[in-house]
Amino acid sequence: MREKIIFESDWLTERYAFDVAARNKMLEQRCLDFFTKKEKLFLLDVGSGTGNNTQYLMQQFPQNQEWILVEQDASLCEKSIAQLQQFAQQNNWQVQQINPQKIQLYIPTSKKEIRIQTLNASLLDIEKLLPLNEIDLITNSAVFDLFTPQQFKQWIQAILKSNTAFYASLNYTGMQFFPSDAYHTEMIQLYEQHMQREQQWGKGMGADCANIMEKTLTEQGATTHSQTSIWQIPQNAETMLYFILHFMDEALHEMPLTKSQTKMLKYWLQEKRTQVSKQELGLEVYHQDIFAYPS
Ligand SMILES: C[S@@+](CC[C@H](N)C(=O)[O-])C[C@H]1O[C@@H](n2cnc3c(N)ncnc32)[C@H](O)[C@@H]1O
Repeated sequence: MREKIIFESDWLTERYAFDVAARNKMLEQRCLDFFTKKEKLFLLDVGSGTGNNTQYLMQQFPQNQEWILVEQDASLCEKSIAQLQQFAQQNNWQVQQINPQKIQLYIPTSKKEIRIQTLNASLLDIEKLLPLNEIDLITNSAVFDLFTPQQFKQWIQAILKSNTAFYASLNYTGMQFFPSDAYHTEMIQLYEQHMQREQQWGKGMGADCANIMEKTLTEQGATTHSQTSIWQIPQNAETMLYFILHFMDEALHEMPLTKSQTKMLKYWLQEKRTQVSKQELGLEVYHQDIFAYPS
């Protein structure tokens, strides 16, 4: 039986700890070092979801910060304000709600002030909506696999022209189940083909996104650094594993499968879910983090 629909925000909440652990700390340090001379930072988090990327990075930068979270889903914009507010309160930071889309945080221990507002819009429109030349860094986490190479190229050209740096973490490149089995390579290949299926706006970069992004940034003359970031999902991380099997289930059922592939998929998913229930399945999901700036 197929599983019931799950909420995007529950998934984003579940993955936060894995994202934090996977982030490449050397690349992150390179990004932090790049801004050491700046007293205050203006940052955009594009495709911000529930605010995970901002929640993590706002703690790493020592400067005062002004963030704009650009997210196309209005309900996630709302959730991000609530999540960041709650996170600040749990850490005994001072919180002031300016309006429903805007909060101001103050960290007494480091005397750091952080202002955060959401913008319910497509990240593809930021050139029209925001003064990009006033932004120090545009960052994101787990977003660009959806976009076509052409969309990314046009978008990044405008960013680099505005002399803005770019930090993209957790760009999916592949995955591996432990233990592996006879069908697992085919199932993962089909899943990755689904990421690159034809959509209204074209074919997404999918698992090639990090390579294409890096190449495009270099061709556009940006100094580009890239390092691996890996989700290590142990056998006892049942919720995370069920989420990923659910996404594979949904994706593969949208593919034009042969009868034997459909049968194989059903058997394979059943076997994987049983392994998860017995804590016998682990997973590694590979990503690449990228930091680039105009040369
Ligand atoms: C996998 S989630 C990642 C969310 C968040 N960055 C994180 O790390 O938890 C991808 C997010 O990108 C958003 N998104 C996709 N296309 C977008 C677009 N064109 N403009 C703005 N947001 C977009 C989705 O709504 C979703 O919240």
